[in-house]
Amino acid sequence: MPNPKSIPNAGAIDICPLDEMPEHGARGFEVAVANGELLNIIVWRDGESLRAFENKCPHLGLPLETFPDRFLSKDASTLICSAHGARFNADGLCTSGPCQGDGLTKLDVRIIGAGPRIVLEATP
Ligand code: FES
Repeated sequence: MPNPKSIPNAGAIDICPLDEMPEHGARGFEVAVANGELLNIIVWRDGESLRAFENKCPHLGLPLETFPDRFLSKDASTLICSAHGARFNADGLCTSGPCQGDGLTKLDVRIIGAGPRIVLEATP
């Protein structure tokens, strides 16, 4: 499994309060990084497990969703690209579809504070 992508920024990037994430669901966010670019990301929470990926399908580079925050299969076990149906497991690996064997770019996220909040790890 490749190391998560490094995000340039002066510090951790605030995403949202933990209680704004469904306990078993995924949401999309657009975050500003240090070089002035906006990064389109998916945060996927499954109870205590939290993971994030760049929202860019390895097939054609498109965002996965057609409708806001509609990323997951009905049983919430896989991410689905709405363009051509690629399915991605919890590690971001494409398990079926036109980019099978490729993967989403993984990002480092964690939960901090008494709030608590979800933050994207960044490198100075
Ligand atoms: S762009 Fe995602 S499956 Fe084609």
